[in-house]
Amino acid sequence: ADINLQEIHDLLIEIAYEAGRLMLTATPSYLDSGTKKNSVDLVTETDRAVEFMVSSRLSKAYPSYSFIGEETYVPGETTLTSAPTFICDPVDGTTNFVHAFPAFCISLGFTVDKIPSVGVIYNPFLDELYTGIKGKGSFVTKKANGGGMEKLKLPLKKEPELLKDLSTCLIGAEWGSDRVGNNFDLKCKVFTKLAASKENGGAMVHSLRCVGSAALNLALVASGQQDVFWEGGCWAWDVAAGWCILEEAGGIMASGNPGNWNPEVDSRAYLAIRGAPSGQKEIVEEFWEVVGNGR
Ligand code: IPD
Repeated sequence: ADINLQEIHDLLIEIAYEAGRLMLTATPSYLDSGTKKNSVDLVTETDRAVEFMVSSRLSKAYPSYSFIGEETYVPGETTLTSAPTFICDPVDGTTNFVHAFPAFCISLGFTVDKIPSVGVIYNPFLDELYTGIKGKGSFVTKKANGGGMEKLKLPLKKEPELLKDLSTCLIGAEWGSDRVGNNFDLKCKVFTKLAASKENGGAMVHSLRCVGSAALNLALVASGQQDVFWEGGCWAWDVAAGWCILEEAGGIMASGNPGNWNPEVDSRAYLAIRGAPSGQKEIVEEFWEVVGNGR
């Protein structure tokens, strides 16, 4: 049967706004939020309640489509297939959420043949909505000046400046919740290499930012507010929506196996570059050169 991406996109936006209301009325505490893998991998009642609302609404509207959600994911059992699949991170940036740091969002992706085809990312605190449909562009909808009800819908694709080299880039990179092991070692290396002076073998980038949500990082790159985003250790729900929005804005995902995405099996490291008239490929090459092929 035909898949109506526009209709799916419209429903995901409705659901994202409902999720935003749940987040803004919640009162999470950083002292008594639950943990998963370790003491910094936080989860709240809101994460679970939002995911339940999302999966209930989607299974009613599209009973035959698959669903992958962060809070109901079962390692080894939940895998991305070529079937139409909704991919949900109910609260991306849970640590920010419990600390009231204003960078958290719901991230809703939709894949067909494992290709991110619809993306909806909504930050309820700032009331910023990033959306994209494969082949139809991506947009940010935000409060108009003065913060009234009227909203501005702006296309993300513009002609930003060319990318010169890493030294002039603002780079998003995340610690995530790994604090030991290969992923942690890799992140320490990448952070150090990017920041270090050239005499010390680094790229001496303009700066590094840890905004605390992989989805918002991708939205920032899509909209040209960051030039690059790199993170090792992401899951499908962290990147599915942002990937679509990024590509529709002229950005590229340079790792993560574009075209043959296997989020379970792949390295789980993602490198995103903003749209630019030129310089994207060079930035990718320089990145791997500087960090020593740390894919
Ligand atoms: C996390 C955030 C964080 C990233 C982690 C993610 P969560 O998602 O996106 O920025 O560094 O890798 O797991 O746990 O808040 O949904």
